[in-house]
Amino acid sequence: RKTHLPRRRAPLVLLGLLGLGCGGPDPGAQPEGWDSAVAMRPATDRNTDPKTFEMDLEARIEELELVAGLKTPAWTYDGSIPGPFVRANVGDRLIVHFRNALPEPTTIHWHGLRIPAAMDGAAEHSQPAIQPGETFTYDFVLPDAGLFWYHPHVHSAAQLGFGLYGALLVDDPTEPADLGDELVLVLSDMAIRDDGSLQDPQTGLDFGTLFGREGDLLLVNGRKNPVIQARAGRRQRWRLVNAAKSRYFQLAMKEHTFTRIGSDGGFMEKPVESAALVLAPGERADVLVVPRGAPGSTFAVRWVPYDRGYGTTFNRPEEEVFRVRLTDEAEVTETPRPKTDRVITPLDLAGATPITLDLTQGEVDGKMVMGINGVPSWEAVPVPAMVGETQVWTVKNTMDFDHPFHLHGFFFQPLDASLAPIHPMEWKDTVNVPVDGTGRFAVRYDDRPGMWMFHCHILDHADAGMMGMLDLQ
Ligand code: C2O
Ligand code: CU
Repeated sequence: RKTHLPRRRAPLVLLGLLGLGCGGPDPGAQPEGWDSAVAMRPATDRNTDPKTFEMDLEARIEELELVAGLKTPAWTYDGSIPGPFVRANVGDRLIVHFRNALPEPTTIHWHGLRIPAAMDGAAEHSQPAIQPGETFTYDFVLPDAGLFWYHPHVHSAAQLGFGLYGALLVDDPTEPADLGDELVLVLSDMAIRDDGSLQDPQTGLDFGTLFGREGDLLLVNGRKNPVIQARAGRRQRWRLVNAAKSRYFQLAMKEHTFTRIGSDGGFMEKPVESAALVLAPGERADVLVVPRGAPGSTFAVRWVPYDRGYGTTFNRPEEEVFRVRLTDEAEVTETPRPKTDRVITPLDLAGATPITLDLTQGEVDGKMVMGINGVPSWEAVPVPAMVGETQVWTVKNTMDFDHPFHLHGFFFQPLDASLAPIHPMEWKDTVNVPVDGTGRFAVRYDDRPGMWMFHCHILDHADAGMMGMLDLQ
């Protein structure tokens, strides 16, 4: 572990004690427009009740210049990638008047939100697909604080890969103040041809599906290689979501570490410091970073190849995702990091029902299909569950590729091989199951009966059959 953090701290503290250094720039202030390079279009609330966020949203194709000089007929929410950024408080009601102006059916799934099944957006399970020209109103209360996201649940690999995704940040007004200057960063990628057109979502046929198709164009809030401004010593809080359909993001920075304070379902039991941060598709992270360096210097946040199985790192260089530029001001003294520790009570596993799943691959009529327990999603028998029940899921991966496993509508607690909680504890809705590995978690069902999906969040895999349903009664 590198210990560069205390550098130059003592003298600044002394100056402060002597009353010197006062009258200088506000140590908390960021330069004007520091975040504009990654600004997202905010959603517009047309409801005057402060506890209700009510918005219109349209899915439509719009030509965007994602690569300079090229026009791409992107699939968008309201004409932008990502879609409008929704920000509200925990307990608020969210109403979304949605209209489908795409040439094919779609839905919106609210990834990670513990909302009623009828609002979950799983086409043909919790609602019929919304046909072109049709509308649907999503209406629910935001039950948890954290970073969530929304995306379609019809032809997901294609629709997400073409640009349909957006971020939803749910604030908890009681959380500690001054965790840092906050940025929401939606990471994704896109496969665009040299003429700007979108690549065929079936490129590479079965082979492409097996690998999971990644795009060459890395995007942060819809921008390629943006540069954010930061003050040396002034803590940043980055709220990250991996919205790519297949790509894993392993991020690293020279001489800087990530202090992870939260994940899918809000704060973790304790912060964890690490040199690299891995986000499988669908996962979120809440991290603190203290930028250091000479005034005016920059450092890169790099994508580092992550081995997610057979040949996935072969011949792949590191790439820059975005860059941090330090302002010309002198380094400020970082304020102490507020405590975000959270007590997470382990679920009581006495009497819990074991559920065992195998993530599998097979062939039907000469075509590759993926499945769970040897059965593709279109033939799957739902896993039964009862309201109030606790289950322990064991998800085995005998394939040659990792699978990020996602359960709709509920948070779960990751367990180790002895079924003890993994520390630091966290609430998750998506967890990576590595090659030849096993994912284990405990989940307790509250009173929201219905059909809930679970699937691999490499959406090429999901579309190829690696999905199943939970029938909660
Ligand atoms: Cu983001 Cu069915 O998932
Ligand atoms: Cu998979």
